[in-house]
Amino acid sequence: AAAPIIAPSLLAADFGRLNDEVAAIERAGADWLHLDVMDGHFVSNITFGPLVIKALRPHSKLVFDLHLMIAPVDAYLADFAAAGADHITIHAEAGPHLHRSLQAIRALGKKAGVALNPATPIDAVANVLDLIDIINVMTVNPGFGGQKFLASQLPKIAALRSMIRQSGRKIHIETDGGIDPATAPQAIEAGADVLIAGSAIFGKPDYAAAIAALKPSL
Ligand code: DX5
Ligand code: ZN
Repeated sequence: AAAPIIAPSLLAADFGRLNDEVAAIERAGADWLHLDVMDGHFVSNITFGPLVIKALRPHSKLVFDLHLMIAPVDAYLADFAAAGADHITIHAEAGPHLHRSLQAIRALGKKAGVALNPATPIDAVANVLDLIDIINVMTVNPGFGGQKFLASQLPKIAALRSMIRQSGRKIHIETDGGIDPATAPQAIEAGADVLIAGSAIFGKPDYAAAIAALKPSL
């Protein structure tokens, strides 16, 4: 299998030195930068919005992988696109019309993703695969970093991988939450190709070593 894409989550970075943290993670070999946007409503935490993303954008060449934990989300999509998003992932639960929201992301010229909460079945995306580039399988409940990996989500990743294979579409599966050197191989084995990690990267002194530790040692 190809090397997994590593997407460090800025949530675990030092927010007083955000720009330096982004530069450091880029030097350390990150592939994508995962940006967790929380609204204090869909999840019980608040992070940052388009202004912060826009401020970071000119300083980094990394793919900006936005994870919007916002509901309702539609009114904010254009702002996040303009702020410099490459990927915009919304939750399956983020509004009454997932199909229309995905069409809106596409119309803004961005790659579209859907995040599935631990209790959300893969059926939630079965009829919108044609509009999706990324599926984020939450391996914790969204809202906070540093939580324990939910191994109950591994069969879901596997079922999703087979659903995607049957569709003939090229869709990334991200695993988000509790990813560390012990859980990463399980998620990859199940079919994930993008590893999102906050604490296991930004919580370590050597970012390059932390990234390397997530890749399968073959
Ligand atoms: C949680 C976020 C995750 C979080 C992961 O709601 O979606 O991206 O930053 O943090 P860790 O890797 O520490 O579990
Ligand atoms: Zn996330």
